[in-house]
Amino acid sequence: MAGLRDKPDGIWVARRLTPAMAIADRDTVAAGPRTRVRPFTRADVDAWQAWPDYSEKLLVGTSPRRMSPEQRSRWLEDIIQRQRQIPFAVEDESGDMIGRIFLRHVRREERSAVLGIDLHPDYLGQGYGSESLGAFLYHYFDDMAFERMLLSVAAHNIRARRCYESLGFATVGSHWDAHIGPDVSAEASYAPVRHLFRRGPLGLESLFYDMRLEGAGWRTRAS
Ligand SMILES: CC(C)(COP(=O)(O)OP(=O)(O)OC[C@H]1O[C@@H](n2cnc3c(N)ncnc32)[C@H](O)[C@@H]1OP(=O)(O)O)[C@@H](O)C(=O)NCCC(=O)NCCS
Repeated sequence: MAGLRDKPDGIWVARRLTPAMAIADRDTVAAGPRTRVRPFTRADVDAWQAWPDYSEKLLVGTSPRRMSPEQRSRWLEDIIQRQRQIPFAVEDESGDMIGRIFLRHVRREERSAVLGIDLHPDYLGQGYGSESLGAFLYHYFDDMAFERMLLSVAAHNIRARRCYESLGFATVGSHWDAHIGPDVSAEASYAPVRHLFRRGPLGLESLFYDMRLEGAGWRTRAS
């Protein structure tokens, strides 16, 4: 189990939970001063579906795909049973489900998985993502014994990139993928990020960075 303490300079730093803290809440796999991470449940699907869409237009593709109540149980079963994803929920101090941390493409033999993370739109940019992911990394590398974490992030998603970089992720490659969202070639407000998009085989495409965090490097930073 993992938790976080506050360094004098205000940066959240993860540490392991004490046995007493672990006993206090058996579901918790990682925790920080304001957040705790625990397994994702069927009730969390409903809570997540009640989130509003992101107001930032470039995040449209990240907003929850809306599902009917009947689809929700099937969806959760599919990602866990068939896709073998390992989903977690992030709670705030009040116990509200404010985020999801999903492990996708879990490769046991390579001890790797691909990270998916998203927060409730009202909680963006307040350190909740860096805090909860930072704590979760202890669970991932120490308890679950993974050796590397991979992810792919849209180049225009500066906040997400900074979150990952601050936790030690390195950019190891890039690729183009379909862009789900506004047509950035039209509106003047997208001029600063337009070079991160192109017209390609998939229509309007967005540049994505492939990022990776190695357990060895993470352990050096964490110790
Ligand atoms: C990505 C996400 C999990 C990050 O969590 P967060 O709590 O919002 O991020 P933080 O508040 O910890 O901020 C991370 C960094 O971005 C910076 N930041 C915050 N808001 C920003 C903004 N609007 N623009 C640019 N940088 C921003 C912070 O200063 C911090 O940088 P620093 O560590 O250099 O100080 C969250 O923003 C999210 O869920 N976004 C929507 C879904 C998404 O993009 N998921 C990721 C897909 S790969």
